[in-house]
Amino acid sequence: MSFFNFKKILGGRQTALGIDIGSSSIKVVELKKEGGKAVLKAYGEIALGPYAGGGIGTVPSLTNDKISEALRDVLHESNIKTTESGVAIPFKSSLVSLIEMPALSEKKLEEIIPIEARKYIPVPISEVTLDWWIIPKEKYDHAAEVKEAHAIDKTEVLVISIHNEILNSYNNIVRDNGLQTSFFEIEMFSVVRSIVARTNTPVLVFDFGALGTKLYIVVRGIIRASHIINKGSKDITEGLAKSLVINFAEAEKIKRNITSLKEADQKTVNGVVDLTLNHIWAETRTIISNFERTSGVRVGLAILSGGGIALPHFVERVEKELNLKAELGNPFSKISAPAFISATLRDTAYGFAVATGAALRKLEELS
Ligand SMILES: Nc1ncnc2c1ncn2[C@@H]1O[C@H](COP(=O)(O)OP(=O)(O)OP(=O)(O)O)[C@@H](O)[C@H]1O
Ligand SMILES: [Mg+2]
Repeated sequence: MSFFNFKKILGGRQTALGIDIGSSSIKVVELKKEGGKAVLKAYGEIALGPYAGGGIGTVPSLTNDKISEALRDVLHESNIKTTESGVAIPFKSSLVSLIEMPALSEKKLEEIIPIEARKYIPVPISEVTLDWWIIPKEKYDHAAEVKEAHAIDKTEVLVISIHNEILNSYNNIVRDNGLQTSFFEIEMFSVVRSIVARTNTPVLVFDFGALGTKLYIVVRGIIRASHIINKGSKDITEGLAKSLVINFAEAEKIKRNITSLKEADQKTVNGVVDLTLNHIWAETRTIISNFERTSGVRVGLAILSGGGIALPHFVERVEKELNLKAELGNPFSKISAPAFISATLRDTAYGFAVATGAALRKLEELS
């Protein structure tokens, strides 16, 4: 029997692990392939705050050793044994630039992109690892600017650079845990893979994390714009702590249980919550309108992700503030989940979009 056949027979038992090291917690998702389909095997989350003596919801600054320890703990608690893995890297650790290049052959582009990228990267090019995608041309029917760009035959290239030191840190963390990691990808690719369907409607992915809010505009599965707002859900907690004169842990508890407060208190708390949210809505509206102006097409749907969206009526709030249809991104909707976890899953699934996306890519690699 050849090795190839052997692998095929084992195919039904392939498992893959996706890891999302967020600013407030680590999320892990284990998938297996069964009958050609991805099936959820296990998932877990661990708060990072306690590894620095802080509470849940805090955004600690941790050494690699502490992150390693937290990853070990969450894998252990979730009973995950798979070592074949892929890791999502925080968007903030990367520099994403959209570069316009002459329409040359792919080989030629490969030669000149690193030279061209120097103009956009504020550190010596030897200190970063570069990756890039040539963006397929999009036919925006009403976009004068884009049509013009096509006429003079330009190619858009998405260039991503990650500092080598950051890559080394992640390498050490996974090696420490005995994991075989074949890729590190920026979290935007992971989240888009797991929650965005390939529709004609331009979609806004809205990832409301603890540290920041990440926005990606995706057209037919391709990321056309990306942006980070330096306000996240932890800013809401900090705002509550300050205005109610309580500590972070108490404020975090209140934020997570707004609906159980008395009506008058809900009003006060929501007023403080809105101080942070209003900033986020304003910046999001600018990003959307910039995209719509330059592309000539309208964003038609917001898909929401991240732990912060658990606030009451968040979908309705997004719809009202952004004047856009919105839905919760469910990364587990594309994969089969065993019946025993499906009930609890509904409530927390959207926090696992990044980890699921990384696991999906790894599973694909193994097949
Ligand atoms: N039930 C809840 N209600 C309101 N907010 C919540 C709830 N549960 C979690 N959060 C908030 O969600 C945030 C964590 O979300 P998430 O896990 O997506 O962040 P992260 O991935 O660690 O951060 P980032 O993506 O910014 O690095 C925290 O600020 C937390 O307070
Ligand atoms: Mg996150």
